Amino acid sequence: MSLSTQNPTQTKAWQTLKALFESKSGFHMRNLFLDDEQREEKYTLRCEDMTVNFSKNRISDEVKKGLVSLVEELDLKSGIDQMFKGEPINVTEERAVLHTALRNRSSTPIFVDGVNIMPEIERTLAKMKTFSEEVITGTFRGFTGEKITDVVNIGIGGSDLGPRMVVDALKFYANHLKIHFVSNVDGDHIMEVLKDLNPETTLFLIVSKSFNTQETLSNAETIKRWFLKDATEEDIQHNFVAVSANLEKAASFGIAAKNVFPMWNWVGGRYSLWSAVGLSISLAIGFDKFEELLDGANLMDQHFQEKEYAENIPVMMALVSVWNTNFYQADTEVVVPYSQYLTQFVPFLQQLSMESNGKSVDRAGNPINYQTGAIIWGNTGTNAQHAFMQLVHQGTRFIPVDFIGFHHSLYGNQQHHEMLMANFYAQAEALYLGKSEAEAHLDLKTKGLADKIPTLLPFKVFEGNKPSNSVIFDRLSPKSLGMLIAFYEHKTFVQGFIWNIFSFDQFGVELGKEMAHKSLTKS
Ligand code: F6P
Repeated sequence: MSLSTQNPTQTKAWQTLKALFESKSGFHMRNLFLDDEQREEKYTLRCEDMTVNFSKNRISDEVKKGLVSLVEELDLKSGIDQMFKGEPINVTEERAVLHTALRNRSSTPIFVDGVNIMPEIERTLAKMKTFSEEVITGTFRGFTGEKITDVVNIGIGGSDLGPRMVVDALKFYANHLKIHFVSNVDGDHIMEVLKDLNPETTLFLIVSKSFNTQETLSNAETIKRWFLKDATEEDIQHNFVAVSANLEKAASFGIAAKNVFPMWNWVGGRYSLWSAVGLSISLAIGFDKFEELLDGANLMDQHFQEKEYAENIPVMMALVSVWNTNFYQADTEVVVPYSQYLTQFVPFLQQLSMESNGKSVDRAGNPINYQTGAIIWGNTGTNAQHAFMQLVHQGTRFIPVDFIGFHHSLYGNQQHHEMLMANFYAQAEALYLGKSEAEAHLDLKTKGLADKIPTLLPFKVFEGNKPSNSVIFDRLSPKSLGMLIAFYEHKTFVQGFIWNIFSFDQFGVELGKEMAHKSLTKS
């Protein structure tokens, strides 16, 4: 069994949506809210303490119905079932797609090629737990017997962005270990990290699913040379561990077998932070908190599998995105988390979404004649308001926004948090309401600028009617972060499913890798 292939634009539902889109003259969100007092509630979805409000989109009840019909007609349910069951839905690489098994907290067997993979996942989690506890408590020591103070994660792409983002996002929960990340092959990156480190007290995690990535291997070799200035080959086992699906190559680098954590081909790099690729996370916050992250993701997995389409957060958000991308021709989506802890969230999401859905050939191998893969960009609020939000408010482009926020701050600084969230809500309001000519006129008059009205008025008008979604949790925790990431993973899957593409390969990136390799071996 495999994912069906069907051009979404040829479905009945798409034709209905097209007709609805074409009949939308004079459509302003302001009126949608005026006409329906229940709109906000009707367009709000919940999962535990997560609330998603998508009422501020150019969507009517009919459009919502049409969007749901689209996934019904395409039989999304069968796609979801196939993914969770471990069918080889990554067809071009002949692999299952089972990041969800990594957070399967029920131990229900999941089979890949007839083998139940749950025992191996549980063994690896147990190994991560023991190792993390030993490093944190100082039982595991460096080659001279000193306790570990610093950890360096060496990896790139999925072996960097996910762990880096989570470690940064959860630093409120962190212990004494200082975690560093080296990804770029730019030698200055590694030298900046190494300059303050002591080889005796530093643990190096070489994270590479393939153990074949130029950047990671070059950085690992450079680090090894730096380490061997003070230590011997024998000492490597005390300060280096590897996470890889390529156990042989990890061993040939000199990593002791007991220090190798497995990875599997049925987990894509950009979906791998839940595996031992997340070892830096477990070291940074402790294994119990790492498990809470898995629990959060698992909650979202259950929601995604069980909820009706119209109540299903990843499904509805993917549909809204398809509506904005394929009907309103939005080229990009901006993501603005109102939490400084989520500074690394957008780069993580860029790989997740754009490496997955940046495809132009459908599942039957034919060229596609509609847009796929939104361009994701953004930054934290309120900083974003003083950088690029002008273009979203008053520019010529149609740019849907995802605002992410939390009801409570972690340190409990209420005054700051109220200001932060006032900005969060105000942005969404301003985008959809805008400011009419009459309002701008009155505003200028009230400010004593009546004489400036003829010249200033056009610049003070905001068209409004700009779409945004808000995603709010009670507070940032391992659990809520797990839910947030899993939500975007599933949204990405649903988008790819609708666009009739394969979301789990990345041949585009691999071509660049091959070419760089060729030009290096020539010179
Ligand atoms: O960036 C391309 C890519 O292939 C990603 O998919 C992957 O996450 C990254 O390289 C790193 O690969 P590896 O973990 O095998 O070193």
